[in-house]
Parts: sequence; C-alpha cells; structure tokens
Amino acid sequence: MTATVRRQRPRRLACWALMAVLLADQLALSDTLAVMSVDLGSESMKVAIVKPGVPMEIVLNKESRRKTPVIVTLKENERFFGDSAASMAIKSPKATLRYFQHLLGKQEDNPHVALYRARFPEHELGFDPQRQTVYFQISPQLQFSPEEVLGMVLNYSRSLAEDFAEQPIKDAVITVPAFFNQAERRAVLQAARMAGLKVLQLINDNTATALSYGVFRRKDINTTAQNIMFYDMGSGSTVCTIVTYQTVKTKEAGMQPQLQIRGVGFDRTLGGLEMELRLREHLAGLFNEQRKGQRVKDVRENPRAMAKLLREANRLKTVLSANADHMAQIEGLMDDVDFKAKVTRVEFEELCADLFERVARPVQQALQSAEMNLDEIEQVILVGGATRVPKVQEVLLKAVGKEELGKNINADEAAAMGAVYQAAALSKAFKVKPFIVRDAVIYPILVS
Ligand SMILES: *[C@@H]1O[C@H](CO)[C@@H](O)[C@H](O)[C@H]1NC(C)=O
Ligand SMILES: *[C@@H]1O[C@H](CO)[C@@H](O)[C@H](O)[C@H]1NC(C)=O
Repeated sequence: MTATVRRQRPRRLACWALMAVLLADQLALSDTLAVMSVDLGSESMKVAIVKPGVPMEIVLNKESRRKTPVIVTLKENERFFGDSAASMAIKSPKATLRYFQHLLGKQEDNPHVALYRARFPEHELGFDPQRQTVYFQISPQLQFSPEEVLGMVLNYSRSLAEDFAEQPIKDAVITVPAFFNQAERRAVLQAARMAGLKVLQLINDNTATALSYGVFRRKDINTTAQNIMFYDMGSGSTVCTIVTYQTVKTKEAGMQPQLQIRGVGFDRTLGGLEMELRLREHLAGLFNEQRKGQRVKDVRENPRAMAKLLREANRLKTVLSANADHMAQIEGLMDDVDFKAKVTRVEFEELCADLFERVARPVQQALQSAEMNLDEIEQVILVGGATRVPKVQEVLLKAVGKEELGKNINADEAAAMGAVYQAAALSKAFKVKPFIVRDAVIYPILVS
C-alpha cells in the first residue's frame, strides 16, 4: 500500500485547503495516530480532529452539534456533561458548574473569585491552602477544584473525539486565552493530565484563529505585509489582536507564509455573560415588581428561579440582536407563578451602556502594543458570539473607522481548526505545509 499524497491546487475552494495535511508514510495508517484540538471557551467548547487520510474536521457531539456547552453536573453517583448538564442546570443549580475556568489558578483574594461569588451566589466556594486552589463545596461529601472539573470536561472532550474518530486519541493542542498567566496555564496542563491527554501545545486562542485564517488564505499571502485585526468578544472576555501576514525566506524551504502577532489588547470580564447577567437582574426586578405587596420572597434568593432567568436572559440577548423588542416568558418561574415581560433592545442597551463604553479599549491597547495606527490595518474581522450584538458592532465600527467589519470567516470554528492544524504539524504522523507562527508573550510573568 502506498501513502496518499494530496496536493492543493490553487484554484480549489477554501475548504480544500484542509487537504494541506499530507500523509507522511504508511506508518501514519496505524490505529492511534489521530490528534485532536479543544477550543476551550468559557461558555462552550469546539473539538476538532485530524486522522490519517482524512482532512481536519470539527467533531460532532452526541447531539450532532458542532459545539458543546462547558457545563458539568456533579452528583454523588452521576455526572452529566455538555447538553445533558445544561438541561440539569435548572433542576440542580447547586450541582451544575459553569464558567469555572474563571477560577483556574486563582488565590482566594483574587478579584475574579469575588466576581464569581457575586455572579453565582448558589455556589459555595472554599480555599485549600495546601493545594493553593479554590474549590466548589457541592455537598458535605462532594468537593471539587476547578482544575478537577476542567479535567472531567477535557476527558469528556476526548471521549467525543474518540467516538467521532473511531479510534483512541492521546495527543492534543488546547487553546487558552492569550491573557492567561503562568498559574492559569499550569492549571490547564494539570487538568489535561487528569484527563490522560498529552498536550502537544497550549496555543493562544487568538493565535489559533489567526493561523486558521492564514492557512485558508495561503495564496493571498505574498511578500507585502498585510495587517489584520481580529476582534474577539466571547462570553467571558474580549481580546483584540493585530496580526501581520507575509511570506518570508527560510533556509530549508524557500519562501513560506508567516503570521506574526504584533499587538494584543484585552478586557478579561467584558463579554456576553455580563450582558446576560444584567438582563437577568432586570428580569428578576420586573418579576419582584409584578408580585409586590404579596409578601413573597425575592426571586434572587431562589437558585432554580435564577437559573431559569439566566437561561431566558441568554435567549433574550440573542433575539434582541435581530429584533427591536421581545417578550420574555417563563412558565412557573417561582411558586408556580408564570412570568411575562416585554424587553426592548433600547432597554437592553441602557442596561449595558457602561459595557459598550469598554468595547474600544482593547483596540487602542492592541494598536499601542503593535505601535501601529488604524490606517495600517487592512481589515477588522469579528470573532466570538458576543460580536453579534448590534451595539457592539456599532461602537467597534466607529472605533476602527472602517467601512465595514469582516464577518467572512467561519469565525466560531477558526480557533479549533487552527489548533488542530498545529496539532498535525507537531505530531510525527502528519506532514503539513509549513506555516510559520511568531507568537508574542503578553501575559505577566509571575515569579513565585
Ligand atoms: C474519562 O471518560 C471515560 C469515558 O469516556 C470514563 O470511562 C473515565 O472514567 C473518565 N476518566 C476520568 C478520569 O474521569
Ligand atoms: C500581494 O497580495 C495582495 C492581495 O492579496 C495584492 O493586492 C498585492 O498586489 C500583492 N503584492 C504582490 C507584490 O504580489
């Protein structure tokens, strides 16, 4: 049997760029050489694989979805992950953990721990001085650190990848936010170890997105430097990155495409989650108002009702991105009382006014750190679910002074695809067309 070698023809559609992954030799056809990536967002994750003879692809989960909520429900005898855990959030709010990556590698006095407590008062957090980690006290018997919870999620991501690839997988590239410091990166590595994964690399998610963008546009990259800005507002945070693409001469392989991270700006708490929490607070106030004078408890003290309100707030935020108003509606919100209230986009924008004022700051930080001005930026590309909020786009468009914002890549999956490309490049089993990546270290180096 001979190894297949596929060459990319310049005329082919973008998706064929995936075929750039070539088989090295027959060895690659053995059973255990598939590699995976996990793009670990704070709300959801995307998993991608590449295996010999098959191009890189996004893994479908058990519900055949391309992304999986990062949620775990931990009971005495049972664990639920992904979509099943999401549906447990209302029945078992205390046992259902979300956004726990915000607690990775944190000391007790870290402001992110205080913020987590304020956002999710249903969870009891403790601190283990020996292991230097916060933990969730779910019941008197059940205690888990965020690292352990992430380990379970990574193990689950591996089982999704293995089911999809129909073979065992060990090697992975995992994305982390560019602003993660050493303690946070160590926590992710520790979680991966618990999941039995061999981490080929932790890649910054903005770099992974930029790599995917470059790999798909290899033929547009030449000796003239092109500067692209990626503005990524996800659920938990916002990162703005300036990337320069150009071909450079290498000793071994002649002219090769290269990406260089030139500047990064970020806001660690600006994102869709904070908008949803503002909406939840608004809805809770409306519900209390509707029952005023009935001497009933504040809905905020009922974790199940608050979980229902958060789910409705999430839906509302999405609907208000396309509509001027919408009726929030929850059957049996509390004490069998239904809830119904109209919310307009204008009201939503007022609730989040101070958040929208923060949209432009990461752009300015990125420009400063790259020592560039806006004229040098050819295109601004949107990444991340929260960039679908019209006000975010409006403010951003004004801040960057361009005619339009680029929405032309499959931005939601770019980081997972870039990371799996990197996994293939680092694995011995594949030979990929070189793409030089020059990343920048932006996180503070902590000396302990
Ligand atoms: C990882 O997941 C598998 C199922 O896919 C399970 O059998 C195993 O116990 C899990 N390991 C850990 C450490 O959770
Ligand atoms: C490089 O590519 C860009 C567009 O991809 C094009 O506008 C430019 O003319 C090219 N420059 C050279 C030197 O080929």
